[in-house]
Amino acid sequence: MGPTKILLEEREIPRQWYNIQADLPKPLPPYYHPGTLQPLGPADLAPLFPTELIKQEVSQERFVDIPEEVQEVYRLWRPTPLFRARRLEKALDTPAKIFYKYEGTSPAGSHKLNTAAAQAYYNKREGVRRLTTETGAGQWGSALAIACKFFGLECTVYMVKVSYQQKPYRRSLMQAFGATVHASPTDLTNAGRSILAEHPDSPGSLGIAISEAVEDAATHDDARYSLGSVLNHVLMHQTVIGLEAKAQMAKVDAYPDVVIACCGGGSNLGGISHPFLADKLTGKQPKLRVVAVEPAACPTLTKGKYLYDFGDSVGLGPVARMYTLGHTFVPAGIHAGGLRYHGDSPIVSLLYDEGIIEAIAYHQNPVFAAAIQFAATEAIVPAPESAHAIKAAIDEALRCREAGEAKTILFNLSGHGNFDMAAYDDYLKGKLTDTEYSSEEVEKALAHLPKLA
Ligand SMILES: Cc1ncc(COP(=O)(O)O)c(C=O)c1O
Repeated sequence: MGPTKILLEEREIPRQWYNIQADLPKPLPPYYHPGTLQPLGPADLAPLFPTELIKQEVSQERFVDIPEEVQEVYRLWRPTPLFRARRLEKALDTPAKIFYKYEGTSPAGSHKLNTAAAQAYYNKREGVRRLTTETGAGQWGSALAIACKFFGLECTVYMVKVSYQQKPYRRSLMQAFGATVHASPTDLTNAGRSILAEHPDSPGSLGIAISEAVEDAATHDDARYSLGSVLNHVLMHQTVIGLEAKAQMAKVDAYPDVVIACCGGGSNLGGISHPFLADKLTGKQPKLRVVAVEPAACPTLTKGKYLYDFGDSVGLGPVARMYTLGHTFVPAGIHAGGLRYHGDSPIVSLLYDEGIIEAIAYHQNPVFAAAIQFAATEAIVPAPESAHAIKAAIDEALRCREAGEAKTILFNLSGHGNFDMAAYDDYLKGKLTDTEYSSEEVEKALAHLPKLA
């Protein structure tokens, strides 16, 4: 029997990120300015991001060097382990081979620190004093709080109100690393005040929290904004996941037939899948499948439209062509807070529109059932977001059982759920509801998209 844990040495941590833009079948559509609705130039992004990240956003270089200072931080927890889920395979009685890459070993508990470290480093190098950001699940806010502490930056986090209430200890964790945390919408920004004026009981959303964080950065010279997902440079930073997983699978002579990840803004999906998709896009692995898994309460890829929309709820951030449910759509307060985003990464959107990747949506009760089944065999309680990928991997393995096929399945376990026990409590007490997204609300939100000339 081969190993259960497939490990790399510290010296095998990737030294470069992989940039899928070099291999896309067509260029990404440009960004547009939220005010003028004209194509966006680097100068328009300067109030929000440091120059190096703006360059990375549009870079066509296939590989980009990881700075030594960022590698030094990565060495705290990378390389992360790749597991063969033998006990889960046995419980499912499937001939499929199930592998999972575990990003929950990072100090923040998820993959998010891979890009937080890089973003904090570039901002510090360019003289920024403070970073502002949003957080849904609290995973991204924790990651940025840690990264800011490492690189000597202040950190202001706008945390979606429903998550702020559901996850008080994520807030404490961010505060322990010195971050200032606000429940969004707040009355501290014009964006927050405008939402509260219309919806005083708003549970908040990632789109609203992004608007607040963007406004805060844009109105303070010494502050910049940091986004935990969606943008091209964020997905690129996450490719350390897939690059390591590829090397780990090679060690046991394995290659996935299907790569699965949950998809909020698309960063862990991009991170695990892009290094494998490189083989599909260059013709080496034409049959490789990649599956994005999203919540049925916020089904951006499976029910949204591929159109130009604002990345935030109020319309302050860049306009991107992406799958969207409409920037004013506020998804139900499901427990996978990190998947409650109206839009999606432009790269993931293009790959989906071109039929290169697939997508599937699940309700939260079956997702939590899969999480419990996984924990019972593999002993890790997953983040509710990551549990979406587990549900899809289990379903794929069960289809293999029916068909008698020994496929190789790889999924990304993007984070642990140790701060999500209130959600598990609700699930175990039968208190979780499976909220259908409202197609009426989506139609209404889609009527408010920006009209480009
Ligand atoms: C553990 C975890 N997985 C996945 C996600 C979804 O984000 P993304 O699609 O950018 O990977 C989040 C977002 O907060 C998260 O915390």
